[in-house]
Amino acid sequence: MAESPFAGKVVLAPLTRGGHAAFRRLVVELGAEVTTSEMAVVKNLLSNSPAEFALLRSHPSEPFFGVQLADRKPETAAEGARLAASRGARFVDLNCGCPIDAITRKGLGASLLRKPTLLARVVTEMVKAVDVPVTVKLRLGWSEAKGENVSEVAKACEEAGAAAIGVHGRFREQRYQKAANWDAIARVASERSVPVIGNGDVLTHYEAHERWQRTGVSALMLGRGALIKPWLFREIRERREIFPDPEERLYMTWRLLGFMREYFGDKPSAHRRIGELLPWHLGFFCRYRPLPEAEWGEASRRHPLLQTRLPQGEGLAPLERLLRDGRETTHRAIAARLIAAASFDEALEQNRALAAELPPDGDGEASEPSAALVAG
Ligand SMILES: Cc1cc2nc3c(=O)[nH]c(=O)nc-3n(C[C@H](O)[C@H](O)[C@H](O)COP(=O)(O)O)c2cc1C
Repeated sequence: MAESPFAGKVVLAPLTRGGHAAFRRLVVELGAEVTTSEMAVVKNLLSNSPAEFALLRSHPSEPFFGVQLADRKPETAAEGARLAASRGARFVDLNCGCPIDAITRKGLGASLLRKPTLLARVVTEMVKAVDVPVTVKLRLGWSEAKGENVSEVAKACEEAGAAAIGVHGRFREQRYQKAANWDAIARVASERSVPVIGNGDVLTHYEAHERWQRTGVSALMLGRGALIKPWLFREIRERREIFPDPEERLYMTWRLLGFMREYFGDKPSAHRRIGELLPWHLGFFCRYRPLPEAEWGEASRRHPLLQTRLPQGEGLAPLERLLRDGRETTHRAIAARLIAAASFDEALEQNRALAAELPPDGDGEASEPSAALVAG
C-alpha cells in the first residue's frame, strides 16, 4: 500500500479568515508541506457564490493543498468534493468541528458529531465522488457534559472510507479555555488504522515532537501556532528554535503584504480587505515570544505554552516592543505604514519612528482577534 500523503507531515489547519492563499504561500515559503483552505460552505458553492469559489483557489507553490468543506447532505457534499477536486484540491476535508452557532444551527460543522450515521453517509458519498483522499476534522465530542464520542465517530469515518482523521483535542463548547486533550487524541490514533492527525496547542518544536512521540499520531496540524509563528513548520522539521529578530519579522509581514496584493488584486475592495486583514495578522504575530527549550521545556510539559500567559519581556528594543504590542490601534498603525511604504526600507524606517513614539502600556495580554472564536 502506498504511504499516506499525511504520514510524518505537519499540516496547516483550516483557518477561516487567516488561511487565505497569500498566508498559505508565506507558510509554504517557511516550510509547510500540506496546507488546507478556509472552510467553504457547499451550499454557497452550489449557488455559485464567487467569494466561496475563491476559497478553492490555491497558489502554485503549495505542494499538497486540500479544501475544507462544510455540508450535511451526502449528495451535495459529493458535488462539493467534485468541485474542489476539479479545481486542483489534492485532498478534500469535511468540517465536523466548527462550533459557531450560525453553522451548527444549520446542521453543519460540529453538529455532525452528534449524527455519526449521517456523517458516515456524507463521507461515503464524498469518497465515491472523487479520486483524491477525503479526510474529516473532528473534535472530541459535542460537550463535556454529553461526553466524548470521538472514538465512535472516527470509526464510522474510517469505515466510510476516510483516508485520514484529524482530531482537535477539545469539545465543541470548549473554545480555547482548556488545554487540548492529547491523551484522547492518542487513544483515537491507537484505535484507527488510517492516519490520525493530532491538533491542539502546538507552539514550539519541542511540544510538537513530544506530542508526536507520546501519542503515536501520524501527523500534526497547526492552527494558532502557525498564525503566531509562520516559520513553526521549519522549526519542527529541523528540531531547533528559530528566533527571527524584529526586523526579520517585520520583513515577513512585508512579504505577506506583497503576497496579499498579488492574490487579492488592486480593486478598492481588495485594498479594504488587505487593510482589515493585515492588522488581524499582526494581532497574532504580536503574540510571538522566543521560548528556548532550556528555559521553557519544563513549563511546556505542565501546560501548553500556547495556553500560557507569556511574559512581555523587559528592556526590549523599541521595534521589538512595537511588534509585541497587543493593542489593535498599534496593529493598525503598523499596517498603515507597511501599506503606505514604497519599499521595505521605508516601511522599516516608518515603523522605527512609530516604535520611538509608542505610548507605554502596550504590553497587556494581546487580545485574541475576534475571528479566533470561529475556530472549528
Ligand atoms: C482564526 C481561526 C479560524 C479557524 N477556522 C477554522 C475552519 O475554518 N475550519 C476548521 O475546521 N477549524 C478552524 N479553526 C480551528 C483550527 O483549525 C484548529 O483546529 C484549532 O485552532 C486548534 O488548533 P491550535 O490549538 O493549533 O490553534 C480555526 C481557528 C482559528 C484560530
